[in-house]
Amino acid sequence: MAGAGLGTPLRGAVRGAQWRTSKRTMPVPMLLESNTGAPIELTMRAGEWEIVPGLYTPTIGFNGPFLGPTLRVRDGQDVPVVYRNTLTESVAIHGHGLHVPGELDGGPQREIEAQGTWALELPIRQQASTSWYHPHTHGKTGPQTYHGLAGLIIIDDDNSDALPLPSTYGVDDLPVVVQDRALDSRGRLIYSVEDAEDGFMADMITVNGIANPTRAVPAGLVRFRLLNGSNARYYRFRFSDNRTFHKIATDGGFLNEPVPIREVVMLPGERNEIVVDFSDGTPAMLVSGPAARDARDPGNRGRRDRGRRRDWEPGGLTDPFEILQLTVDPELPAVRTPLPRQLNAISRPAVRSDWPVRRFEMFMDEDDRRRGAPRAPGSAMAMGINGRAMDMRVINERVRRHQWERWEIQSRDGSHPFHVHGCSFLVLSQDGRPVSDENAGWKDTVRVDDEAEFIVRFDHEATDEHPYMYHCHILEHEDRGMMGQFTVA
Ligand code: C2O
Ligand code: CU
Ligand code: CU
Repeated sequence: MAGAGLGTPLRGAVRGAQWRTSKRTMPVPMLLESNTGAPIELTMRAGEWEIVPGLYTPTIGFNGPFLGPTLRVRDGQDVPVVYRNTLTESVAIHGHGLHVPGELDGGPQREIEAQGTWALELPIRQQASTSWYHPHTHGKTGPQTYHGLAGLIIIDDDNSDALPLPSTYGVDDLPVVVQDRALDSRGRLIYSVEDAEDGFMADMITVNGIANPTRAVPAGLVRFRLLNGSNARYYRFRFSDNRTFHKIATDGGFLNEPVPIREVVMLPGERNEIVVDFSDGTPAMLVSGPAARDARDPGNRGRRDRGRRRDWEPGGLTDPFEILQLTVDPELPAVRTPLPRQLNAISRPAVRSDWPVRRFEMFMDEDDRRRGAPRAPGSAMAMGINGRAMDMRVINERVRRHQWERWEIQSRDGSHPFHVHGCSFLVLSQDGRPVSDENAGWKDTVRVDDEAEFIVRFDHEATDEHPYMYHCHILEHEDRGMMGQFTVA
């Protein structure tokens, strides 16, 4: 499982450490709010952006050269959105985490041609949460996202309004979009899928579009809306001083109560909201890498080696990174009220034996490669789900609307983040262990090392023309066919 992690430097790439020259303030994407009445306009365009100071990297973005604004919408609203594509290739844009009908979901059937537009109205009918938008173009999701097409969507509701949580955007409520990138010596983004069977990983970490970020926060509680927007890399986030913090939300909304943790593992596509206490004024670095115990006991890593590779952890989880330096500015307005004991009222229905059960098995066929099968660029291995690769002409599953189901996901080869459109689900178990408190909330993307089970119900329609997708959120796996389509009727 080589990929292009720390062990295998990318050819031509300048190593991440060499960029660690100067720190810059972490940018906060501008807000586009739905309550103005005007449509939210998102124009995709090409530009140049200093991921690293002094190097002008050719990029793409929404309304700017790189990444996109944060959309702020509200439960109950119908939000007009206009996408404009001024790029030279078509792009499909998907609202990841949104519970909207298939025809508004922005899957691969909904390509916006070069120079084309797509105007739609998004009915927001779901609880407060952090979602995101990104390309879903058939076979091109990886490169288009990597070059800069991604942005956050914040959904508010009456509950989030009432909760005494840090909520001043850009001050104590900070979006943190973490992505790994590689640049060549002239500053161009390097993207290569050859030999990247684990997906494309690079060793320069960016937050909200820049390397080496720092941010001043108030001397109080600070909420971070974390998104792993990387193509393939997994992170184990914690703070340099190993402080305890609280996880308050998963992909689809608040947890029932804050869960104290010291580290949070995030796979591509996942969002988590955490609240960190800076009231004693101590700065900290958000880092990623081996768990603290691994540093003392290196023999403890690689739980799943299964004879494939010693010390292997999926997605570069043990690669050590500095992510975001945080300093405390006592002048900033600070929230110091204690965290609310209760955040949400998720009630898990008891699983019934008469609910439909669906099974999905993700596979990557290494044998193909050993047999020396022709290797077109980007297809080093056969990949798919339930024995077949994604085919736009095939509806793989037909689901009944408003009906609870149990989905059992398995991985035959390696670890994968399994994502489902049009819903949030409740995880029952992962690798045979009951779901942990910190993952007991609504989710739409789940880690599958060996197996995971969840219950799910779809409340909106998805037709044969505009079905929903389920797929691995390692974008190179998705692009190579680890995806399927389903309708809801
Ligand atoms: Cu975030 Cu189908 O994807
Ligand atoms: Cu999605
Ligand atoms: Cu995968």
